[in-house]
Amino acid sequence: MEFSKKLQQLPPQFFAALVNKVNAALQEGRDVINLGQGNPDQPTPDHITRALQIAATNPQTHKYSPFRGIAELRQAAADFYKREYNVDINPNTEVAILGGTKVGLVELPLAVLNPGDSMLLPDPGYPDYLSGVALADVKFDTLPLTAQNDFLPDYSALSDEVKQRAKLMYLNYPNNPTGGVATSAFFNETVQFAKENNIAVAHDFAYGAIGFDGNRPPSFLQAPGSKDIGIELYTLSKSFNMAGWRIGFAVGNAKMIEAINIIQDHLFCSQFPAVQHAAATALNEEQVCVENLRALYESRRNVLVEEARKIGWNITAPKGSFFAWLPVPTGFTSEQFADLLLEKADIAVASGNGFGEYGEGYVRVGLLVDEARLQEAMQRVAKLNLFTVNAQ
Ligand SMILES: Cc1ncc(COP(=O)(O)O)c(C=O)c1O
Repeated sequence: MEFSKKLQQLPPQFFAALVNKVNAALQEGRDVINLGQGNPDQPTPDHITRALQIAATNPQTHKYSPFRGIAELRQAAADFYKREYNVDINPNTEVAILGGTKVGLVELPLAVLNPGDSMLLPDPGYPDYLSGVALADVKFDTLPLTAQNDFLPDYSALSDEVKQRAKLMYLNYPNNPTGGVATSAFFNETVQFAKENNIAVAHDFAYGAIGFDGNRPPSFLQAPGSKDIGIELYTLSKSFNMAGWRIGFAVGNAKMIEAINIIQDHLFCSQFPAVQHAAATALNEEQVCVENLRALYESRRNVLVEEARKIGWNITAPKGSFFAWLPVPTGFTSEQFADLLLEKADIAVASGNGFGEYGEGYVRVGLLVDEARLQEAMQRVAKLNLFTVNAQ
């Protein structure tokens, strides 16, 4: 039996190749410092796992969930947005419960575009956006994200043709992989741009809780008029270390939410109700655990930046997310440098070109190991003698 054309059209999983390389090195018994993936290293806070334990013993949770998620979680998502961002959300019409936001991001093009339609994707960007493009048979143009523009797209640089054909656009701040953070002014400009050009917006707020230097990342939905044209996707994977639980939600424009819900009515029967109950607990209860986590990542970021600069690697400090976006030394491509780090220093990083054309020249480092390991990683890099330390 042959795989369908659609299946053959799917892009190769960039992270799968990286996992294979790292596993091969580990199997050789090497002490690999894995900075390549985006898997949170801390446990889910106790009060959330306790909520799951209790809910899982209630036979009511053993039944099918309502197709569109339990009312308690939809309400919790709406209350969370009101409390954290002062955004009004109708829990019945403006929330879609997702089995992780990856699902929502992949199914959205299928729900609102037709084959041959076009969308705009950030470059560099989260590779799974391309899975949605392939499944829906749509085309895409890119929004280049460069250091000169603080990793924000420059709408004025887009051609009329590109603007005219785009029907949907993805944004992601705090940004994976660059660590860039959006400003409220940028989101206001986005609403204006999207309205002028009739483009729907989906803002991927996966790292919404992780902003540094006292700056809280704004929600796209705080921009006036944003709900007329867009949605935001919020995952519990990062803010609450619940990546394995597979739970998140989309909020915003009722029409787009309804489109996601319709497609999900056909694909899923929502998530395990006990997981949904625990997710509601995470959103409703005190957020001290989130602040502690944010502070942990900031402290790791500071160590990484300080240690890198000490060895002569002049890196820019990320403003948010749990990634740092590091320029590769002259003479290397991203892939060559990532391979060198793995082969000669037992350090795994994600090669920037895997995130798009504009990722070439960078590697992505996850702040997902403790400070001592980050320090050790930089000491191992120092031994490769790739950078010159300027005398002070
Ligand atoms: C930018 C971005 N968006 C979305 C996701 C998906 O998160 P989840 O499916 O766990 O909600 C990730 C996960 O790594 C991510 O980095």
